Amino acid sequence: MPPQQTDTQFVAWFRHSSPYINAFRGRTFVITFGGEAVADECFPGLIHDVALLNSLGVKLVLVHGARPQIEQRLRERGAELHYVNGLRVTDATALACVKEAAGTVRVEIEALLSMGLANSPMAGARLRVTSGNFVTAKPLGIRAGVDYQHTGEVRRVDADGIRQRLDDGAIVLLSPLGYSPTGEVFNLTAAEVATTAAAALQADKLISLVEHKGIIDGRRRLVHQLTLAAAAGWLSEGRPLAEEVAAPLSGAVQACRQGVRRAHILDRRVDGALLLELFTRDGIGTMITSDIYEGTRRATIEDIGGVLELIQPLETAGVLVARSRERLEIEIEHFTLVERDGTIIACAALYPFPEKKAAELACLAVHADYQRLGYGAALLAHMENEANLLGLTRLFVLTTRTAHWFLERGYRAGTLKDLPVARRRLYNFQRNSRVYAKKL
Ligand code: ARG
Repeated sequence: MPPQQTDTQFVAWFRHSSPYINAFRGRTFVITFGGEAVADECFPGLIHDVALLNSLGVKLVLVHGARPQIEQRLRERGAELHYVNGLRVTDATALACVKEAAGTVRVEIEALLSMGLANSPMAGARLRVTSGNFVTAKPLGIRAGVDYQHTGEVRRVDADGIRQRLDDGAIVLLSPLGYSPTGEVFNLTAAEVATTAAAALQADKLISLVEHKGIIDGRRRLVHQLTLAAAAGWLSEGRPLAEEVAAPLSGAVQACRQGVRRAHILDRRVDGALLLELFTRDGIGTMITSDIYEGTRRATIEDIGGVLELIQPLETAGVLVARSRERLEIEIEHFTLVERDGTIIACAALYPFPEKKAAELACLAVHADYQRLGYGAALLAHMENEANLLGLTRLFVLTTRTAHWFLERGYRAGTLKDLPVARRRLYNFQRNSRVYAKKL
C-alpha cells in the first residue's frame, strides 16, 4: 500500500474512533473471557488492549474462566468433571483443581498486567489490578436427587466494593469462584459472574470474548446487532446457537434486562477484537442493545442530508412519496429520528391537524442494515405517544405497500372521508394510497 494511502486511512480511522474515545471515558465495562484465551499465545495482545482501554479512562472489570486449566488438572489426577443435566458436579477433587486453576490463571493475568507491556507504546503505564472476595455464592444444592456439591451460583456481587476500586483507577479481576458466609468456596461459571457483576454495577457494557465468530444466522452470516427483544426471541424460540455463544447470549439478555446498555459477543481469536468492536461503528461481533429508544430525537436542519440518504432508496422503490431537499427543509421539524453512533437509522414524520385532533404519520423508514430488529415498531409507538402528548386522538397513514404492517399494529382501513379536508385536497389520486387510521 502506498504510504500516502496508509496515512489517509490512519487519519480517517482515528477521526472515526474519536467519538467513542470520548464516549467511553469514565464508563464501566465488564469483559469476560475463557481459560482458552489465557492459555493462548496471543493473550498478551488482549491484555495490551485492556491496558489501552484503561489508559483511556474506561473502568474495567475482567472476569476470567479456567475450564481447560481445571480439566487439565483433573486429567493429571485421573479424574474428570461430571455433568448432570448440563450442570457440573464439583466434588472435593474437582474443587481442589478449581482453586488451583483459578489461582494460577489469576496470577498469570496479574503478572501480564504488571509487565507495563514492555516493547509496546504502553510500556511504563502502571496498571493496578485488584481481586478479592467480591462474589458471594450459594450452593446449587440437590436437584432432582443429584447433589451438585461444590458447584454454586452467585448470590450477591459487592458492587460498592468493586466501584471503590474502580474509582481508585484499578482494574478489578474476578475469578469463577465465590465464597459463602460460612467460609465455603464454590465453583461458578465466568459467564454467570460476569452477568451478575455487570447488572450489579449497572455497567455500560458487558463484553464476552468467545471462541466463535458471534451469533450466526440460518444463512451462516454474522448477526451484527440484535435488540434486546430480538435476542430474547432467539433464545425463547430455541433457534440454533453454537455452544460457545449460548451462555454469553443468555447472559447478554439477562444483563440488558437489568439495565446494562449494550452487550457484545466477540471472537477473541481476532487480533485486536476489542478495539475493532469498540472503536468502529459496525464492530466485528454481535451487539445486543437494551434501549431501542436510545438516540430517538427531533430532527434539525442539520439532519437533512442524513434523512435524504435514509429515505432515497425507499422513494426510488416507490414505497415512500418522493420529497425534494427543498420540501424536506421546510418539513424537517416534523421529523423524529433514531440515531445510532452518528448514523440516522430510522425516521418518521408527524403532521398534526389540531382542529381535527388528528395527525398524519408519514415517511416512516428504517435503514436497510437495521431492519427486522423492532426499530419501526418502536418508532411508531414513540410517535403515537408524541401525538398523545399533543392532545391528538387519531392518527392516520396513507400507504400503498405496508398496509399489513399497520393493520398488525391496530390501524383500521378507512376512506378518503376520514382525512381532514385540508389533507384531502392534497391527496394524490395517481398514487392511489389507502388510508388507515387508529384511535389513540
Ligand atoms: N463501537 C460501538 C460500541 O462499542 C458500536 C459497536 C457495534 N458493534 C456491532 N457488533 N454492531 O458501542
